[in-house]
Amino acid sequence: STAESNALRTPIVAVLGHVDHGKTTLLDTIRGSAVSEGEAGAITQHIGATAVPLETVSEMAGDLVDPTDFDLPGLLFIDTPGHHSFTTLRSRGGALADIAVVVVDVNDGFQPQTIEALEILQRTGTPFVVAANKIDTTPGWNPNDGRPIQETYEKQSQNARSRLDENLYEIIGDLSDEGFSADLYWRVQNFTKNVGVVPLSAITSEGIPDLLAVLMGLSQRYMKEQMAVDVTGPGAGTVLEVKDERGFGATVDVVLYDGSVRADDEIVVGGIDGPIVTEVRALLQPRPNAEIRVEKRFDKVDEVRAAAGIKIAAPELDDAMAGAPIRVVRDRDIEDVIEEVESELAEIQVSTEEEGVVVKADTLGSLEAMANALREAEVPILRAEVGDVAPRDVAVASTANEEKHRVILGFNVDVLSNAETELDESEVKLFEDDVIYQLVEGYENYVDEIER
Ligand code: GTP
Ligand code: MG
Repeated sequence: STAESNALRTPIVAVLGHVDHGKTTLLDTIRGSAVSEGEAGAITQHIGATAVPLETVSEMAGDLVDPTDFDLPGLLFIDTPGHHSFTTLRSRGGALADIAVVVVDVNDGFQPQTIEALEILQRTGTPFVVAANKIDTTPGWNPNDGRPIQETYEKQSQNARSRLDENLYEIIGDLSDEGFSADLYWRVQNFTKNVGVVPLSAITSEGIPDLLAVLMGLSQRYMKEQMAVDVTGPGAGTVLEVKDERGFGATVDVVLYDGSVRADDEIVVGGIDGPIVTEVRALLQPRPNAEIRVEKRFDKVDEVRAAAGIKIAAPELDDAMAGAPIRVVRDRDIEDVIEEVESELAEIQVSTEEEGVVVKADTLGSLEAMANALREAEVPILRAEVGDVAPRDVAVASTANEEKHRVILGFNVDVLSNAETELDESEVKLFEDDVIYQLVEGYENYVDEIER
């Protein structure tokens, strides 16, 4: 009933995986739009959020999802870029995503970002399924558009079946090498103990009914308690992106995971120099099945309830940080809310030392992941910040005592043009990469060289 579905919030599903393995195409097919075609080079540059209502889910899933079996309102998918590690998008103390889909190209198999994604899911204890995508590229495959996997599998030639089987067992083997006991999803009894692999094609939609059924089942079965939050209370969310919008100035794209935001709410947002207190000027919601990144015509709404992707326009948001918490004040004491945001920011704060390297990253989550990787490699950090490489960073890096520390490690950030001049004129070295372990490895190789 409506009253019931209002009481449960939408589960948040992160879609992760290596570059080009088909994350955006999969979501396109599910939401029936064509975001991927409109992208520059068809690469997802930013994280986006899409709400898919239960009706759409059950339409696509056909016999596999009976909407009357569910009282969850649908699924909120977060698309992530594969060109760098999605890293930890956090919510209060945990992972922002309730569940995840790791997309793996059946022909390409496991790749660096597949492994990074799995490590993050393991660390955060996020349940996930593996979408073994692009089964339609199996030699000799005869597509049966939109059909469940077992039905289409049975209609394939012996040859096509065994080619696919081989690829699937390789993925199951690779999962096992990463410490996950996995099997084809219909053989999995307990999805919190074993990883289900769903063979599918984002292009022909074969197997997508299965994926949706597994995701709905997983959410309904294991996450119902987590979803039973007060979706009318003061909202809590995580900033995905800070963006300038014509007519609004700096805005934040937010995933609201708890409570609600209203158009007249006071909010506290994590910023580069601490919490920002401001007032909502406009709540801009993409239509259902639309994509927050490309949808130009937002609906101005009065209230949004969790879980949802929402763009918030408000003054003073220029220094808001991707990955930072956002809180609605409403009838609470503002000081308490500021403290809440402060303590959450402090939790993510990277501890720094007197001597070490300078680290810049695009989001708080990636900064945290960089710091973890550097700690493991026993590399001390002098300064760690979210944002592009600025002249100030060059100045700070040049104060390091040791040559090997006079470096800036930039993860998925730009270099401001005046910083480039400074870099040229100083002895500070800049390392950039969009895969964390490659960035750290590149730096370690450099250290080996100068210490030889
Ligand atoms: P990034 O955002 O760059 O990480 O990539 P992505 O994982 O979102 O991949 P995307 O959806 O952009 O797909 C990459 C390419 O693979 C595109 O050319 C898609 O058309 C193609 N592709 C995706 N899924 C399938 C599939 O199931 N079958 C076939 N044949 N091609 C696919
Ligand atoms: Mg993409």
